[in-house]
Amino acid sequence: MVILGIETSCDDTAASIVIASGSFDEPRFAIASSIVSSQAAQHAAWGGVVPMLAKREHEKNLPAILAQALSDANVTPNNIDAIAVTKGPGLEPALWAGIAFAEKTAREWKKPLIGINHMEGHIVAAVLSKSTVAPAPKIVFPALALLISGGHTELVLVHHWLKYQKLGATRDDAIGEAFDKVARLLGFPYPGGPHISHAAEKGVASGISLPRPMLHSGNYDFSYSGLKTAVLYYLRDRGELSQQDRSNLCREFELAATDVLIAKTRRALAEFTPASLIIGGGVIANTHIRASFTELISSEFPHIHLHVPAISFAGDNAAMIAAAAYIHLINGETTATTIRAQGHLSIA
Ligand code: KG4
Ligand code: ZN
Repeated sequence: MVILGIETSCDDTAASIVIASGSFDEPRFAIASSIVSSQAAQHAAWGGVVPMLAKREHEKNLPAILAQALSDANVTPNNIDAIAVTKGPGLEPALWAGIAFAEKTAREWKKPLIGINHMEGHIVAAVLSKSTVAPAPKIVFPALALLISGGHTELVLVHHWLKYQKLGATRDDAIGEAFDKVARLLGFPYPGGPHISHAAEKGVASGISLPRPMLHSGNYDFSYSGLKTAVLYYLRDRGELSQQDRSNLCREFELAATDVLIAKTRRALAEFTPASLIIGGGVIANTHIRASFTELISSEFPHIHLHVPAISFAGDNAAMIAAAAYIHLINGETTATTIRAQGHLSIA
């Protein structure tokens, strides 16, 4: 089955052609093309994503992104079996742009259309491989999924494909949002996560101590706004920082943010004893966080399979949306001609 995926939930305009095969239990995906066009530069001047600006940029860029996805994959509309589009969660104006474009394309090409949950896409991203030859890794269920992005921080128990149970989520800021806000306090451009990560690599232990919010809360919820506020107070009290002090602060922020992720995940692994751990979302591009999870699994849970997406599929992309659509379609789900944007759509 050849699926066109369209993703516009935030500030990336993405289209992808995925060639999907295999059964519901063992789906296989070959990524024929995956185009991601970031609007970060347009939003940087505002310090974050402006929803109506994102919508306009998506509308402007989608036709060319689609044309590129088709040509990179060497397919024509005739070859497409279905069109998948992100229906939420995300910024509603941004979602509208992708949905309207997908609806129009499905009408013109006379193709079935399906709306996909963005977070489900981030879970499925773990089985995407850039190589069209290497088989996608098979997920052994039940799995625990940790989703860490600019908009979400959540732990989800995946009993099987499409059977999700949310264990907990952030009560305020998402982890990526905290990285971006701290980066802004330090004068880094949006999105700041990669800048913090880069600076943290040069940091050393320096006596700075930031809180680990909700570390011992006894549940699976997170809170990252207090950590960001602690950085704000530290900067206010210390005044001008040297380059080394800034790096040390970034390091301590990254360690604090990671410690909570690791502690909650460790507890969920012990309580629910899943066979696999899946991590998804843009923040898993962070080198320290990736290494910390590799270490956690190899030292404490060596029998658990760890699935971390390739960097190109960690952040928002449309291949994950097309792949998730295949799992729904092969399960016999019906398609639609119109899709409703659901900014606060939850996975379970
Ligand atoms: O999944 P994603 O592309 O978009 C959302 O659905 O939110 O995640 C984007 C987030 C941003 O907050 C960005 O700063 C963060 O991922 N991010 C990182 C790194 N690379 C991206 N955060 C920390 N370290 C990184 N290397
Ligand atoms: Zn995302």
